[in-house]
Amino acid sequence: MVVTLDGLSGSGKSTLARELARRLGWTWLDSGAWYRALTWAVLRAGADPAVEDQVLDVLFRTHLDAESDGRVRVDGRFPGDALRTPEIDRAVAVLADHPRVRAELVRRMREFAAHAAAAGAGLVADGRDAGAVIFPDADLKVFVDAPLAVRARRRLAQRGGPVEDPAAEAAMERELATRDARDLARGEAAPRPRSGTFVLENTDGIEEAIGSLLSRIQRLRAVREAPGSGAGPSPD
Ligand code: DC
Repeated sequence: MVVTLDGLSGSGKSTLARELARRLGWTWLDSGAWYRALTWAVLRAGADPAVEDQVLDVLFRTHLDAESDGRVRVDGRFPGDALRTPEIDRAVAVLADHPRVRAELVRRMREFAAHAAAAGAGLVADGRDAGAVIFPDADLKVFVDAPLAVRARRRLAQRGGPVEDPAAEAAMERELATRDARDLARGEAAPRPRSGTFVLENTDGIEEAIGSLLSRIQRLRAVREAPGSGAGPSPD
């Protein structure tokens, strides 16, 4: 079974995906981490993330794979927290615009998912286009939504920034709005709710969101496992 969680920066999709995979004993594919890992390799190679041919050149020389807990490995090494620096934040947004880079990363992430499936594991994938592009046949597609102000506060908290600081929140809202515009300009890969997608309002606590996802997955499984069930069920 494949479940996709897409959404804008700070929507909380990665936290939900990681926790969902943990509770189900499934593999977590953090697609943003793959983009970040490639960006890390590109910067280390002294290549320019804005030049598609340079990025592709690094990509075809670099082995990317991942653990079932979402951690991505670059040529056998885990960059870890080095993927979460402001420098990577800036460069990855530029790198992710290149269509041929996206196509090759999608191919590699599908290959990773096929190995997880062969090992009998379910998969939770999160990103921007996990449901629309990477796994169009996913069993359950979720769009994780939250207001800009909530996303900004969440991002500040994740970065260990000031709490209840209106100026810091306003600055983070501006940063996120800039990233949103870039993400939303990616056509088919843009993070938008689409038909057949369950929109999850992630403004309350994580337990509510996880509970709602788990019950949908249980219902899907129950229909699948019912004797004589044929076609896949609708999540609604
Ligand atoms: O979710 P994140 O912040 O770790 O994502 C890092 C960057 O990668 C972000 O700029 C958007 C891009 N990305 C993408 O274009 N498609 C995905 N499926 C996942 C991430």
